[in-house]
Amino acid sequence: MKIKPTVQFPILLVGLMLAGCGKSPDATSAPAAAKQLTIGFAQEGAENAWRAANTASFKAEAEKRGINLKFSEAQGKEENQISAVKSFIAQHVDAIVIAPVVETGWEPVLKEARDAKIPVILSDRSIKVDDDTLYACFVGSDFKKEGQMVADWVVKHTGGKGRILELLGTPGSAPANDRHNSFADAIKGTNLTIIDSQSGDFKRDGGKVVMEAFLKKYKKGDFDIVYSHNDDMAIGAIQAIEEAGLKPGTDIMIVSIDGLKEAVQAIVVGKINCVVECNPLAGPVVYDAVEKVVAGQKVPRLSYNPDELFDATNAKAAVASRQY
Ligand code: AHR
Repeated sequence: MKIKPTVQFPILLVGLMLAGCGKSPDATSAPAAAKQLTIGFAQEGAENAWRAANTASFKAEAEKRGINLKFSEAQGKEENQISAVKSFIAQHVDAIVIAPVVETGWEPVLKEARDAKIPVILSDRSIKVDDDTLYACFVGSDFKKEGQMVADWVVKHTGGKGRILELLGTPGSAPANDRHNSFADAIKGTNLTIIDSQSGDFKRDGGKVVMEAFLKKYKKGDFDIVYSHNDDMAIGAIQAIEEAGLKPGTDIMIVSIDGLKEAVQAIVVGKINCVVECNPLAGPVVYDAVEKVVAGQKVPRLSYNPDELFDATNAKAAVASRQY
């Protein structure tokens, strides 16, 4: 008579467990398995292709490492992120990762996390708090450097002369603030001027709507350059520019940040002139930091990704290997 496999497995398991019980505590066999980490991740939103790649990186790496990931997506609203963090605290997670929507308003909930002895790791976007010890560390890109790299490229390729329309990211967010300020600082003392700035909220349709409004306000010849705080808005702006009968990349210089495969491909076909990378594939580096923090090891307060610059000189060679 056949024994059903469903019965066989528990019997074997119990047998093995009983055999194990007979061993003395110091008998050396396999090392004790590391405790599974439970991490709460308060993601900022799902606004574009960059964010989708960022979320996918966290989810895939959690699976690879056996991390129990509690994921919450805030739809670009800080109040949703704060609720998510409170819920992670109530669930006694081992650590909380936040990709903050905006820079301010974080003290109260971070104090709650500290009182509950749950470390907070900032990913992607930084915050402004009086007490920096409210979070363990920051891991992400250097937005100030990105804005400066774009500006340096523009200065070099325009001879330091031109009128710029700026597509801003989400108001109050670290990338919008840093990319605006560092770019504006870097063009000081040149004949480059930002003549108008409007927010497209880091979204493709936002970039298109803002560019359409700019094209009603300014005619061809009134401006020379579009500086977009991210690729999705740049791609939206390109659609608006083409619909207005102009040639992006030729009639108007287009410069942007993120390094989406689609944007690097747009450089190859001449519609974007320069893109500075902002790498969203952060799961591995952020979890490395989380694991160290939870284990009580020292981590740098600020860790920045190395980000590249793409233009007509290297885009063709780079496009095939872009992972997002
Ligand atoms: O915080 C990173 C920025 O946020 C990326 O540049 C952008 O695409 C995203 O929305």
